Amino acid sequence: MTPEDLPRLLDEALTAIQQADSLDDLEQLRIRFLGRKGKLPEIMAALKLAPPDQKRAFGQGANQYKQGVTQALEEAKQSCESSSSPANALDVTLPGFSPPQGGNHPIRQIMIRISQIFDRIGFTVATGPDIETVFNNFDALNTPADHPSRDEQDTFYLEDGRLLRTQTSPIQIRYMQENPPPVRIIAPGRAYRRDTPDATHSATFHQVEGLYVAEKVSMADLKGDLTYFAREILGPGVKTRFRPHFFPFTEPSVEVDFTCHVCKGKGCRVCKNSGWIEIAGAGMVDPDVFRSVGYDPDAVTGYAFGMGLERIAMILLEIDDIRRLYDNDLRFLRQFA
Ligand code: DAH
Repeated sequence: MTPEDLPRLLDEALTAIQQADSLDDLEQLRIRFLGRKGKLPEIMAALKLAPPDQKRAFGQGANQYKQGVTQALEEAKQSCESSSSPANALDVTLPGFSPPQGGNHPIRQIMIRISQIFDRIGFTVATGPDIETVFNNFDALNTPADHPSRDEQDTFYLEDGRLLRTQTSPIQIRYMQENPPPVRIIAPGRAYRRDTPDATHSATFHQVEGLYVAEKVSMADLKGDLTYFAREILGPGVKTRFRPHFFPFTEPSVEVDFTCHVCKGKGCRVCKNSGWIEIAGAGMVDPDVFRSVGYDPDAVTGYAFGMGLERIAMILLEIDDIRRLYDNDLRFLRQFA
């Protein structure tokens, strides 16, 4: 052994100490490096036998070895003790962590409520894709090529000629193409229009479509069912009003108003003093729509309606800006969780 060997021996000892992970291991290492039959006595013996000119360097190296190993053992022992001390042990009496829980968005909640209300009078839920063909969104719904709603200003067209549906009405077409009458469905979903967002407009919004087709379905069915819905969703005192209107896919067509929930029909700021709030478009399915899906307009009649979900949400949640529903501000959303 020469003085040059000592740094290597120290290194080996330090590496071994670093890798030890229990007090027992450390005690074994202490015996191996510093103990009576360990490395240190070997070094001391070599020191004794060293030629005089090496003694000084040997002595210094031996000291460094002893101090280095002693200090490293002491530090390793302390860190071993503190990591197994009771302060770091698992305390099973502490309350657990509960991960944050999500909830349904208000729009989804209202969709579910509306589905339940119509479920009670025999309607099932149908769905369709957000990306639609021009045929399903317009042609089959008797909306001619020169109709203003087909304008690029209102509709998002895709490069392949398809579009983002501007209404949930194409779900009517899909459903009738695949199912023979009778039909009794509602179809909730998202719709898209190139609207500039403001307090009452959003380029993405939601509608619920309704379709009832059978023998001898009449306007009285439409009025009865939508009045039932009005009372279920807004309360028993609500009245409905049906005003003549035009939609390409219904004849006759109506717009449906509910009495204002705030002033109960007396007139206030919310209903712009009219006492009524417009909720839906509706009407008797146009025979041309039946023909486009292969139904016989002489054998069946039907009613259809489409209403804006955001409008109903704004009424129920008492908010005056549609954008609240899309800001994803948790302070807002948590109120309805
Ligand atoms: N699709 C119409 C719209 O977005 C709403 C509508 C009106 C749907 C009359 C219907 C209906 O099913 O019969 O403005």
